[in-house]
Amino acid sequence: MNGVIVVDGEVYPAESACVPALDRGFLYGDSVYEVIRTYSGRPFALREHLDRLQRSASLVMIDLPLPLDELASHIEGALEEVGPGEWYMRVIVTRGCGPIGLDPDLADKPRWVLIILPLPVLPEAYRTEGVAVSMVAISRAGQGAMPMGAKTGNYLTNIMALKKARGRGSFEAIQVDSSGQISEGTTSNIFIVTSGEVHTPPIAAGILDGITRRKVIELCEKASLEVRQEHLRPLDIYAADEVFLTGTLKEVLPVTTVDGKSVGDGLPGPITIRLQKLYSESTAAR
Ligand code: PDD
Repeated sequence: MNGVIVVDGEVYPAESACVPALDRGFLYGDSVYEVIRTYSGRPFALREHLDRLQRSASLVMIDLPLPLDELASHIEGALEEVGPGEWYMRVIVTRGCGPIGLDPDLADKPRWVLIILPLPVLPEAYRTEGVAVSMVAISRAGQGAMPMGAKTGNYLTNIMALKKARGRGSFEAIQVDSSGQISEGTTSNIFIVTSGEVHTPPIAAGILDGITRRKVIELCEKASLEVRQEHLRPLDIYAADEVFLTGTLKEVLPVTTVDGKSVGDGLPGPITIRLQKLYSESTAAR
């Protein structure tokens, strides 16, 4: 297997890296993480991802074990190690090890892990023809749920939502919270287009402040497309002219089927295609 895994600064081949079974990331998902990808071998939006890692860590009261600049240098070093190509990078910080028990004070010291693997590539047809999604009434968003905006290692609700959606033949689940509001995909943010206007749930819907989402909002503004960040309900999705997902690995991905029904005429819509193009230009232009 190509790739490397760095554990607390030690570099290992990807297949042989280990963390102790008593690590709280393993025991409880007591960790935060980021997924970053390369374009032309260079990490994309690295600063934004590291800043979000820092915010996630503060929200769940984990002290980052090294300064962000040092982490960035390790990322650069590891990319040199793996050589040319496109890479998937996952940076994880766990609260560390300790005697079993929920009390965070049992943890010894935070551990950091950097996973670098060949970038998984989505089938081209997903980008050109779109994907199917299913709405699933499972969401970690909601009052008193996870610290809002923290990208933590605890993804079980998303995994259950994705399992349901996959069981219905869909590529992604759109999570609907207990008040009937749309939150996000399991590893993506959602946008719809209605009468030429772009809509996406606000951060207050308990969603991840997606870096691709932010960039797409900026691109809409530059292209003079109206963007409204407002709560959406399943009926808004069913009635939309276009639907698309955003995410580091999904980029801008058209959705052409929702719960088995075609979106618009069942083909990726013109605004989605335009944003897809603008986004790929922006990733190539840095
Ligand atoms: N996840 N919402 C959730 C719940 C996510 O996990 C992700 C990304 C996004 C999109 O965020 P961004 O545009 O910053 O990638 C939204 C990554 C890709 C993952 O966990 O694999």
